[in-house]
Amino acid sequence: MDRYRSFAPFYDVLSGEYPVYRTGRLRGIEALGLRPGMQVLDIGCGTGLNFAPLRERIGNAGIIVGIDRSPQMLRHARARAIKHGWQNVILIQADAAKVPVADVVRQIKAYGGSACCDAAIATYALSLMPQWHTAWESMLAWCSRGAALAVVDMQTPAGAAAVFTPLARLACWLGGADIAAHPWRAVEEECGDVARSSAWGGHIQIRAGRK
Ligand SMILES: C[S@@+](CC[C@H](N)C(=O)[O-])C[C@H]1O[C@@H](n2cnc3c(N)ncnc32)[C@H](O)[C@@H]1O
Repeated sequence: MDRYRSFAPFYDVLSGEYPVYRTGRLRGIEALGLRPGMQVLDIGCGTGLNFAPLRERIGNAGIIVGIDRSPQMLRHARARAIKHGWQNVILIQADAAKVPVADVVRQIKAYGGSACCDAAIATYALSLMPQWHTAWESMLAWCSRGAALAVVDMQTPAGAAAVFTPLARLACWLGGADIAAHPWRAVEEECGDVARSSAWGGHIQIRAGRK
């Protein structure tokens, strides 16, 4: 059973957003270099915690495309968009590692978006997908040439912060993430102009680059 089915109502409060995980999402979003009017893809968007900082940058003229396989998480993402009166959020329920690229493009176009996104981000999402390489390849395919891509994800902390390893492992286990997946490697291996940073003793890894 998908753990996010029952976890969805509590995700924003219990996910460790403050003080830990917000740092990574804000850095990843900043690294995208978004401008007003851009269309940005949020893979495994969950309840939409990325939406406000994305909207601050792309404005009313931009479009957010959120993809998540959990209808319950998407319900909260939709409620967030409605609460704030955001009209430019397209939500698609799909398994990012399995859905055919063309199906998503068709849905984006049906909701008034364009076939290719200007940027894409995955925060704390690819490490939950055993076939994250496939999701990454789709992420690339949904973006235009030169698009900015960012992956923010988790690993075991290093150095003095290694004492927090049991906590980091617990957080990943609760969320269903594979702490050893290191999906940001795809940005390093397949993008140009790669920017690297980390937070919380290396537990949070942020990579951004250009397709
Ligand atoms: C830890 S949450 C992160 C949510 C959000 N990106 C954030 O930063 O708060 C992981 C999300 O990935 C979604 N997810 C997991 N596997 C997925 C898949 N194969 N395709 C699409 N979404 C998936 C889950 O439903 C969940 O909403």
